[in-house]
Amino acid sequence: MTRRIALVSLLATLLVSQALLAEGLAPPPGYKADKKIKRLFAAKCASCHGDDGRGKTELGREMGIADMTRAEYWQNLTLEVSRQEVLDGLKRTVKGKEQEMKPFKGRLTPEQVDALNLYAASLRK
Ligand code: HEC
Repeated sequence: MTRRIALVSLLATLLVSQALLAEGLAPPPGYKADKKIKRLFAAKCASCHGDDGRGKTELGREMGIADMTRAEYWQNLTLEVSRQEVLDGLKRTVKGKEQEMKPFKGRLTPEQVDALNLYAASLRK
């Protein structure tokens, strides 16, 4: 009997973690970005990702930056992973296009990066 309960709760935990994983990075319910973060995003991130996160900027098009307002963008990201990528920068070639995000380490604090990534994730539809 206890084994059965243990099995059921194990399955429930697995289901919940699967659901969280499928969700990806998302701001908490009721999230509202403050003005400072919006301004910081406009200053540091929008030249590539666009004010609206859709990446329809000159640099965004050149590099083929994906649309942050799509849920898929955040699917495989966590706050930790995206923090590391923004701090360390990122360089890769996707479909023949060179994509580069310069490291923000030293220019933004990890707390600012988290706030910016949550804001960016809040732009998703
Ligand atoms: C010089 C252009 C540029 C700027 C400025 C820039 N990024 Fe990026 N960023 C990129 C590129 C290129 C990618 C990878 C391609 C993509 O996302 O489709 C990327 C990817 C990301 C990702 C997703 C990483 C992944 O694994 O998919 C996050 C999150 C992100 N940027 C956040 C930010 C934040 C927050 C800022 C502002 C502090 C910022 N970016 C500023 C170019 C930029």
